[in-house]
Amino acid sequence: MTPKIVAIAGSTRRSSLHKELARAAVDEADRAGFDATFVDLADLPLPLYDGDLEAASGVPEAAHRLYELLADTDVVLFTSPEYNGGYPAVLKNAIDWVTRIDRSVFARPTLLVSASSGKGGGAKGLGLLRKTLEHMAVPVVSELSLPNAGPGVGNHPAVRHQLRALVADAAESRAGLQRAS
Ligand SMILES: Cc1cc2nc3c(=O)[nH]c(=O)nc-3n(C[C@H](O)[C@H](O)[C@H](O)COP(=O)(O)O)c2cc1C
Repeated sequence: MTPKIVAIAGSTRRSSLHKELARAAVDEADRAGFDATFVDLADLPLPLYDGDLEAASGVPEAAHRLYELLADTDVVLFTSPEYNGGYPAVLKNAIDWVTRIDRSVFARPTLLVSASSGKGGGAKGLGLLRKTLEHMAVPVVSELSLPNAGPGVGNHPAVRHQLRALVADAAESRAGLQRAS
């Protein structure tokens, strides 16, 4: 069966570097034989999590749609900016809402990518995203941080090469999990 990958960008900005990178990863995954889907959180608008809101009206439909995408994939890829040494609220909020349905849906081989115009490449933000995911027993397979990044990062040949390697790591890890089961 064709393996599936879902790429979620942790920025809703129209010309987001992380949307570029998620789309580039989808392109590379397609070429590697995955059925690949790009997820733009701007298409899944969610209110800030609030327990009273959940009690009154349940989990929003957009969180159910994200849950369904995750439930139907083999591999997850997050591309996320670093915001003040962490990762953006829009991504944390989406993760939090989905966990109100079932957090085990995240437990599949996961890839992390960040970029920044600075020297750190957003690695500190990914560190905290990794902590959240590992708290939910998510196997993070590979991580890539790209320093000195700017518009067009997703089309840079060296970046494409690194994304191809990342996708190959996911394919390998998925095959390993299948052998073990
Ligand atoms: C609130 C805020 C905080 C930021 N904090 C950091 C930071 O800690 N480290 C960093 O490298 N870049 C930081 N940046 C710059 C972002 O990495 C940069 O804007 C990036 O392009 C955002 O991702 P996007 O292009 O996908 O929207 C910050 C940007 C914002 C808006």
